[in-house]
Amino acid sequence: MTRSALLASCLFLAACGDPSSGSEVETPQLPTGESGSETQAPQGTLESDPLVEDAAQDMATRLAALPAPYSEADLANGARQFRRCTSCHTIGEGGPHRVGPNLHGLFRRTAGEAEGFNYSPALREAGFDWTPDHLDAWLADPRGYIPGNRMSFVGLRDADDRRDVIAYLLLETEL
Ligand code: HEC
Repeated sequence: MTRSALLASCLFLAACGDPSSGSEVETPQLPTGESGSETQAPQGTLESDPLVEDAAQDMATRLAALPAPYSEADLANGARQFRRCTSCHTIGEGGPHRVGPNLHGLFRRTAGEAEGFNYSPALREAGFDWTPDHLDAWLADPRGYIPGNRMSFVGLRDADDRRDVIAYLLLETEL
């Protein structure tokens, strides 16, 4: 009874998480108290770095300004999904073409028109400008959306993964 009351107030005040007062809690998890404080110091420095905070704030503002449903996207997942593309695509301004074309400025382009990339006739003749809707359909089923194209990628089945990677591209292809 007393023990659980103590535990409850301890949780409520979050005092147990404080390394200075909670050595009994910390000891079983960390080999030594010293290594614990060493790993905490750099994290504190990073979090309070004004440049890192400004960049994160800037990204959050740009994300919120996107049209729905992209404003709701999980950008961390979008970045993770985009790793599936990076074996074939670069994204930065002036980046090289790889197996696939550089994707910088994608949403200001007509399909099949990145300079210096040798597209399939199918993609060259697709005849539309890239929008989030076109990209969603393309990524859901690359082979079916533009038959005869040469992107050998199965696509992204999950609609949330597509939303997230499209939001990521909406922000990153303009940087
Ligand atoms: C195995 C290589 C490969 C992978 C992986 C891949 N692509 Fe591609 N992608 C290509 C190729 C090749 C083309 C050009 C196809 C053609 O000319 O028919 C292309 C074309 C495109 C285009 C059209 C670009 C334009 O200028 O019209 C977009 C958009 C695109 N890919 C996005 C993606 C995204 C997003 C991913 C990851 C989710 C991805 N691709 C994964 C190879 C790949």
